[in-house]
Amino acid sequence: MKLLVLLVFVTAIHAKHEKYSGWKSFYVKPVNNDQLLKLTSRIPEFHLDFISKAAVNREGIVLVEPQYQNDFLRFLAKEKICHRIHSEDLKEQFDIDDQKIEVRNLATRSINGGRLPYDNYQTLDVIYEYIDQIAEDYPEIVTLVSSSKSFQGRPLKYLKISKDKFSSNKPVIYIDAGIHAREWITIPTVTYAIHKLVENVTEPDLLDNFDWILFPVVNPDGYVFSYERDKMWRKTRSLKDWSITSFLCRGVDGNRNFDFMWNTVGADDDKCSPIYAGTEPFSESETRTVGDIIDEHIDRMVLFITVHSFGSMILYPWGHNGSLSNNAFSLHTVGIDMANAINKLSLPNFPNYVVGNSMLTIGYGASGASDDYAHFRGVPLTYTFELPGFEDEDDESNEFTQGFYLDPKYIHQVCVETWAAFVTGARRAGELYGKKNL
Ligand SMILES: *[C@@H]1O[C@H](CO)[C@@H](O)[C@H](O)[C@H]1NC(C)=O
Ligand SMILES: *[C@@H]1O[C@H](CO)[C@@H](O)[C@H](O)[C@H]1NC(C)=O
Ligand SMILES: [Zn+2]
Repeated sequence: MKLLVLLVFVTAIHAKHEKYSGWKSFYVKPVNNDQLLKLTSRIPEFHLDFISKAAVNREGIVLVEPQYQNDFLRFLAKEKICHRIHSEDLKEQFDIDDQKIEVRNLATRSINGGRLPYDNYQTLDVIYEYIDQIAEDYPEIVTLVSSSKSFQGRPLKYLKISKDKFSSNKPVIYIDAGIHAREWITIPTVTYAIHKLVENVTEPDLLDNFDWILFPVVNPDGYVFSYERDKMWRKTRSLKDWSITSFLCRGVDGNRNFDFMWNTVGADDDKCSPIYAGTEPFSESETRTVGDIIDEHIDRMVLFITVHSFGSMILYPWGHNGSLSNNAFSLHTVGIDMANAINKLSLPNFPNYVVGNSMLTIGYGASGASDDYAHFRGVPLTYTFELPGFEDEDDESNEFTQGFYLDPKYIHQVCVETWAAFVTGARRAGELYGKKNL
């Protein structure tokens, strides 16, 4: 028996992406709210995993395991929900994605004179080296904090960027990424923000008027696991006990683990679920670290952005019940301004951003998410960004199957346009709430 278990593990490690053999992915496009809600209400039943979120008239991409594919297709046909195949076999598509990244690595390795390249996805080591180097090179304005550790013992590194070491009462802006392991594109948008705040300063007012906290990789264990082993990994890598299910189903969905309405909706008690909420709120050191930052700076924090992918969306609370918060007008108008800043720079083959309340926009609620928590604690402007992942379906020139990753050739573009949104968001937050505590 022991030998068999060992063999299974060894095989799993060597056969890359084998787990996803036979899985398919579909584009789905609900054309009205009724279709959107019908679709999202089936998420638990068909184990649907939306890699790119759908909204009304916004095509999403959903992964479906082999045993649910027939029923899912029957359901789509019955409800007349527009759909088409995205990938016939996930394993094959992942192998192609890997090659794309590898080819790009070979092509660009020799010409990277700069420090952190934006022409490909980077390993955690490269990202951490960059963060360390920035702290070392700019000690006057940058403070590296790495006092807490991930479940597997990796340092959780974030930068505090300030002209006076956070000693004045400037409003604080917080941005994080990578809480969901597989959302690789989110991380460079935050390192790029660091670059624009300290290395290539074209908006000097941002440091004159604000203090910044930038946390590029909230879930480093998950990122490494996704990068090296399982591309679709989403959760942390924690183990709660020594039981078999713990080993087979590790980790907690970080964005269901915050201490607000925890595990009430759109989260799961099942350890094996990709949206497992954990044994209790803040069971994960990764989410506790974010929670501690919010607590420490709550008096001055005016803007909180957590970057996710995909969907080209800017979403705001309340995500757990779809109600609008007291300052929904500000949340919406600042959201629109940020989206416009992106849309102005975006490429013609990418969809425009959608802005709205999370639950109303994506058609399902989720509890224990960090944006709701930060808003509940008193941060006036809190957002979830869903970065763009897929080119427009109407673009005839795009005849290639699209993979599960934003093609690395678009990383720089997404960083530049997302930075424009951060700039706009910061300035608008300053106008609206800059005097929060004076
Ligand atoms: C910032 O980067 C741009 C584009 O590479 C460059 O043209 C510009 O000179 C840089 N500005 C500063 C202040 O470093
Ligand atoms: C939704 O949640 C918010 C925040 O907890 C609360 O203020 C609001 O009353 C809730 N809405 C409904 C309809 O329960
Ligand atoms: Zn996410």
